[in-house]
Amino acid sequence: MCGIVGYVGPRNSQEILVSGLARLEYRGYDSAGIAVVDGSGHLGMRKRAGKLQRLRDSLADDPLPDGTTGIGHTRWATHGSPTDANAHPHLADDDRLAVIHNGIIENFADLRAELEQQGYVFRSETDTETAAVLLGREYRASGGDLEAAFRAVVRRLEGAFTLLAMHEDHPGLVVGARRNSPLVIGIGDGENFLGSDVAAFVEHTRRALAIGQDQIVAITPEGVAVTDFDGAGVEPQAFEVSWDPAAADKGGWPSFMAKEVSEEPEAVANTVRGRVRDGGIVIPELDGLDDLFTGIDRVIVLACGTAYYSGLVGKYAIEKWAGIPVDVELAHEFRYRDPIVGARTLVVSISQSGETMDTLMAVKEAARLGARTLSICNTQGATIPRESDAIIYTHAGPEVAVASTKAFVAQITALYLFALHVGRVRGALGAEAEAEAIVELEELPGRIQWILDNEQEHIEQLAHWMADTRSVLFLGRHVGFPIALEGALKLKEISYIHAEGFAAGELKHGPIALIEPGQPVFVVVPSPRGSATLHAKVISAIEEIHARGARVIAIAEQGDTAVLPKSDEVLRIPLAAPLFEPILAVVPLHVFAMGLAEAKGLDVDQPRNLAKSVTVE
Ligand code: F6R
Repeated sequence: MCGIVGYVGPRNSQEILVSGLARLEYRGYDSAGIAVVDGSGHLGMRKRAGKLQRLRDSLADDPLPDGTTGIGHTRWATHGSPTDANAHPHLADDDRLAVIHNGIIENFADLRAELEQQGYVFRSETDTETAAVLLGREYRASGGDLEAAFRAVVRRLEGAFTLLAMHEDHPGLVVGARRNSPLVIGIGDGENFLGSDVAAFVEHTRRALAIGQDQIVAITPEGVAVTDFDGAGVEPQAFEVSWDPAAADKGGWPSFMAKEVSEEPEAVANTVRGRVRDGGIVIPELDGLDDLFTGIDRVIVLACGTAYYSGLVGKYAIEKWAGIPVDVELAHEFRYRDPIVGARTLVVSISQSGETMDTLMAVKEAARLGARTLSICNTQGATIPRESDAIIYTHAGPEVAVASTKAFVAQITALYLFALHVGRVRGALGAEAEAEAIVELEELPGRIQWILDNEQEHIEQLAHWMADTRSVLFLGRHVGFPIALEGALKLKEISYIHAEGFAAGELKHGPIALIEPGQPVFVVVPSPRGSATLHAKVISAIEEIHARGARVIAIAEQGDTAVLPKSDEVLRIPLAAPLFEPILAVVPLHVFAMGLAEAKGLDVDQPRNLAKSVTVE
């Protein structure tokens, strides 16, 4: 939530800031703003409520003077509605100091009261302005030492924050700090960058440094200095960004979501690539970590939203191949009960962004209770993998659309790789089962591509016909159940249509009462080759809802004729082993949600009220 970018160097910072914000806009799009220090040492600022385009238009009509030092922000509102006044940057010290912020300053009310008592005046309802005004006061008190003043401020803040600040007295200097909120450094030649994530600067440099918790960074064109909150030097961890800058562009697609759905085959292929050797699964990141998997008797998967659904699918694979009991829990629920976790528990977190606050806090809580932790993550340098004992990266490439699609299929793929690896290490998995799973993994990209090539048009047409639908239900069973949940979430999220996912077996325990003539119901049908019994049970669920007037849209493997008599539509997926079907069955549901949102004329990439990276609780 909220995107942050900072720049110092020889170039005009405005263009760099605005294009960085464009790449970070998925993090929040309630307002945007930039501040720059120009050649004569004057600080200029512009901010606008609404999407980044409004800021761009304003800068085009009335440009700010060129400046080579700058900070920029795109907001997802927490304290204060999305207005011009509440947009960042916030200014202080007679408008000579600018501050931007991501996170929530929990003690802002006390700080603001203290400052108001001293006569300071506030112009917004935000928690951020408190940090700006406090920094102005500390700056004066320090006799103009921006870094010392910044240290004094961050030591007083409670909550989660990434803060960037600059002052017109110090052209060529941007200071930043982070606590439980993301910030990475980009290293250029004679120029340096800060960003909420590497997307902010990947078009300029792939050399990056990760900043740890409770650390401060000062960037100048010549260098970067990282310290803790007390000013003691810290060595940041260097890494090379593997994302191709072009991967974060739309590349001719009408939306990022359309591009990212088209990349689902590649996301799976890239996640498997390099992890199969001599007919076995080899995860180089897990070398030397066998004790993580042998010394445990339980796995807890923690995640939120779509990532949580991938965990629900992963449970079936981990239990089958690794023979360990798995609980899958929403990260925000885990943290606020009294979980029974200890040294023999492995907590596997799943997060595309690696920054979801609920997941991060749950991982920290699990570690505090003695659990070992493994992160499945798509974003290099993100906080959750850095806080974990082990990492498996999904290689889906940057996901920009708010609705997660390619990351979801990559997450299930990574969970399967994990399950196979652990199964082998623990001696629970036979060579034959491993070899069969590898063939399935390697076939997946082609099979997903088949769905996109052969069914996409049909699904989009269906979505178009259903543009006025007010409610859609999704049913699934076994590994198809989480897919029903994912189909429903995606539809709610980008089409604003009421949608619910149910386990098909639950139908008669309540949800069947929702069925009335014309009610559309997607049914994920398991292959009869996996379990004839499960297949038969889902077919009878179809018969029951069809008899009550439901409009049934079945997602079924090619050649399954049992679905035909009672289904109004059948969306076909290629044959696959039963555990691998969810990675195929979800594709039509992603395409459908996107098609329906487009048919309603909605912004599929930036749905209302949402932001991609949920970095506040
Ligand atoms: C839904 C969606 C969200 C995320 C959830 C977790 O399309 O994108 O439900 O899956 O907010 O985000 P990450 O994976 O970044 O932790």
